Amino acid sequence: RQDNVPQAPEDPLFGLMAAYRRDEFEKKVDLGIGAYRDNNAKPWVLPVVKSADDVLRKDPNLNHEYLPIAGLADFTTAAQRLILGADSPAIKEKRATSFQTISGTGAVHLGALFLSRFYPRSSNQAVYFSSPTWANHNQIFSNVHLPIRTYPYFSAQTKGLDFQGMKSTISDAPEGSIILLHACAHNPTGVDPTRDQWKEISEVIRAKKHFPFFDCAYQGFASGDLQNDAWAVQYFVSQGFEMCIAQSFAKNFGLYGERAGAFHFVTGPSPDAQDTVGRVASQLAILQRSEISNPPAYGARIASLVLNDPALFKEWEANLRTMAGRIIDMRKELRSNLEQLNGKEGSWKHITDQIGMFSFTGMTEPQVLQIRKDAHVYMTKNGRMSMAGLNTSNVEYVAKAMDKVVRE
Ligand code: LMR
Repeated sequence: RQDNVPQAPEDPLFGLMAAYRRDEFEKKVDLGIGAYRDNNAKPWVLPVVKSADDVLRKDPNLNHEYLPIAGLADFTTAAQRLILGADSPAIKEKRATSFQTISGTGAVHLGALFLSRFYPRSSNQAVYFSSPTWANHNQIFSNVHLPIRTYPYFSAQTKGLDFQGMKSTISDAPEGSIILLHACAHNPTGVDPTRDQWKEISEVIRAKKHFPFFDCAYQGFASGDLQNDAWAVQYFVSQGFEMCIAQSFAKNFGLYGERAGAFHFVTGPSPDAQDTVGRVASQLAILQRSEISNPPAYGARIASLVLNDPALFKEWEANLRTMAGRIIDMRKELRSNLEQLNGKEGSWKHITDQIGMFSFTGMTEPQVLQIRKDAHVYMTKNGRMSMAGLNTSNVEYVAKAMDKVVRE
């Protein structure tokens, strides 16, 4: 019966994007979706992606055949090296298996689906997310019927990490819980643990026999340094954890719509490790086949060319520094404009402390709605701002509008 289907709400983020597009105000500003924009507020095709595209198009052997179920092998092995590090013991000891996925979302989903089938669970266990987290995490894990709980993450008071809250909730979670962690450039807060804090988190996770699941959507995009942004993942691997990693190439290659990503399962060192990953890979293949058959080729071919060619790789690193650097400049500009307006040095320090695509400004939902109405500045209701939407032409305008609504 057709009336069995209730109307669902529009996706908040894509709804915001549509509202921005409908707005005809000349000075409107899009600080909603997490997608890089250049200083002219335009999407940026990375020069290295253009170079790789030229090479691909000239290849007389290029065809449109299916990829294998696990995806393009040159891509997944390079993606694995990128996230785990070329000298990773997990790679040397063949303790990792990697599947190409529909970007980061597909990787999180494949991991969630796999865990929902094979992770041994007691009735009290759950998947723990940071509060807040990327909105889609909730939907993806709910869709595979895994129970969800949260650990504190953002302190509204310091606008930084609530480290004690995070640690104690993870420590109190039932043994063997799944702990979802953002590898770097936490979405939506832009707040990451320090290396020492990561070490403490890993100790708590080990003590409680929890299972870490890293979501890595910003490697290289956050700091401009690929290895620096993978530090937490590589540290956990060095500690011998069995874990999942979801890896997206949307942001760091600007390949948003091409859906290039990878899912990695890594097991700890043991005589059975190769056997374990072999069995895991066999099940992932069954799941992947029933869901998408095999992943899309174009984005993976572009990324693979770059990841496997030293000259193109260098060019990519320069492109990453361009994106990360522009965002860091915009953080400084926004903060200094805001502090000049209110005369309180240090009052917007969190904007320059936070890292990556987003800033969690501390603005309330009414303030977000007000700034949208008054100044046509679009950001998500939780006060998250996509820093890439700022540029030298609009940063002063946005600062003035922010200053106004937070005073009211
Ligand atoms: C975001 O959070 O804005 C991005 O990760 C885009 C998305 O798919 O939600």
